[in-house]
Amino acid sequence: TRKISIAIDGPAAAGKSTVAKIIAEDMTYIYIDTGAMYRAITFEALNKGISLEDEEALNMLLKDTQIALIPKNGRQLVEINGMDVTDIIRSNEVTNSVSIPARLPKIREEMVKRQREMASSGGVVMDGRDIGTHVLPHAEVKVFLRASVEERARRRFEENLGKGIDTDLELLKHEIALRDKIDSEREAAPLKKAEDAVEIDTTSLDIQGVVGRIKELINERL
Ligand code: C5P
Repeated sequence: TRKISIAIDGPAAAGKSTVAKIIAEDMTYIYIDTGAMYRAITFEALNKGISLEDEEALNMLLKDTQIALIPKNGRQLVEINGMDVTDIIRSNEVTNSVSIPARLPKIREEMVKRQREMASSGGVVMDGRDIGTHVLPHAEVKVFLRASVEERARRRFEENLGKGIDTDLELLKHEIALRDKIDSEREAAPLKKAEDAVEIDTTSLDIQGVVGRIKELINERL
């Protein structure tokens, strides 16, 4: 069978990476977590004391920053210049700042270039905000995941509990809504459903339900 490209977009904490990983593993495709790339440059900037609004300085930093997404045992490791940052880029500090540098056109341009290179062989599942609209406009399958902000906050709350982290549900809801607002309102490739993307509301679906629906779409295209 031919190798296609699958684009999965949607707002924060909609379950994109969970389903993208399952589908990639299932099809022996490459999973590309584009959010991890924006998180990586944000982490690096915070680390180096570079302003998250300084487009030139961040662009220079990015040119010197190799970001590697490495599949390992069904997980994806993230490395910055060979250093493992898989967990640290999920910190609250990075999560609540990442939308700021992600607004900058030069940063996005460089990220998109790297993402297209990674996807050039086909056989990829890529998740993000602008994959169907901008990074891979010709992807054979485009999915846009939605869920209410309450449901997304609740899932993230449960996920954190599982990791032994007790979070404030209301605060989580507020942070998720704020990130979506910044991501949707930016000029450069905002969070948006591509016209030809299939929307899936996951509010009342479990993971297997979402995966099953996406697999139907894939089978129509293979
Ligand atoms: O997917 P994740 O929640 O890890 O993404 C973190 C942030 O990176 C998003 O809130 C958004 O600001 C940015 N992002 C983006 N474009 C993408 C993927 C992520 O702007 N394709």
